[in-house]
Amino acid sequence: MEKPFHRRDLLGIKDLSAEEVLGILDTAESFREISSREIKKVPALRGKTIINLFFEASTRTRTSFELAAKRLSADAVNISVSTSSVAKGETLVDTALTLDAMQPDCIVVRHSSAGVPHQLARISKAAIVNAGDGTNEHPTQALLDAMTIREHKQRIAGLKVAILGDILHSRVARSNIHLLTKLGATVRVAGPRTLVPEDFESLVEEGLTVAQSVEEAIEGTDVVMILRIQKERQDSAFFPTLSEYAVHYGLTSERLALAKDDAIVLHPGPMNRGIEIASEVADSARSQILDQVKYGVTVRMAVLYLATGGRPARDDE
Ligand code: CP
Repeated sequence: MEKPFHRRDLLGIKDLSAEEVLGILDTAESFREISSREIKKVPALRGKTIINLFFEASTRTRTSFELAAKRLSADAVNISVSTSSVAKGETLVDTALTLDAMQPDCIVVRHSSAGVPHQLARISKAAIVNAGDGTNEHPTQALLDAMTIREHKQRIAGLKVAILGDILHSRVARSNIHLLTKLGATVRVAGPRTLVPEDFESLVEEGLTVAQSVEEAIEGTDVVMILRIQKERQDSAFFPTLSEYAVHYGLTSERLALAKDDAIVLHPGPMNRGIEIASEVADSARSQILDQVKYGVTVRMAVLYLATGGRPARDDE
């Protein structure tokens, strides 16, 4: 198979070409049926070692990277920061160099600070995969969102996508805006003015518009992506109360009725039910939230494969 992705690291979507994004998605398609088998394992990455280094909480991303590695027969190790030497004051760089000395093929990292994966990529011999860095990017989330959209809409180009809520703190929004506009979708973002940063306006020519209201953003869309209110990143009052947020910006059935009849609903999780999304929407037939989780494993299989197997050796770069 021709290599669709020639980089060692996956640090973000911003710097990828549309062809590279499509190459990762097509590789994921080729791995899709493995997860439906009775024996969910192929030897593609036998002998490879993957370390999951998560400095922030995660259910979906960490578990799916571990499952993805195991379904490809790689050895997967999860580092729990609270029980590692980070808790004794070891620096990020010393932790990374220590893990690198054990000769893993790939380190998957999540950190609350933007740029940490890029820092590790400069000092590590292993491939680095960004599993979410601060408010910067969450590339594998955007890839699994794209795989879910392609499954239900058979395309990305020409679709209208609304991304709603806490855009300011959302690495998911950033990665999705880069990916969706690269592939020819148009994206409308909306939320409280305090949570929709001004610099997003500068991306208008790339297929992004900032809508004046949630209703305006949803009108006629094919995909409605609602973001989590990130309480852990809110160091000032961006809106008065959570209940007011739910009233003015929450995705209810009434607001969803403004989208196309066959519009799908996505949420990266974890959900704050009754705040950014009503339970009746989250549990409706329009909701593809569990498909997002399912394709998270498939997309991460593709990313690990390309980062550790389907890539040139470092010396070839
Ligand atoms: N979407 C996402 O990143 O979920 P987790 O925080 O559970 O990994």
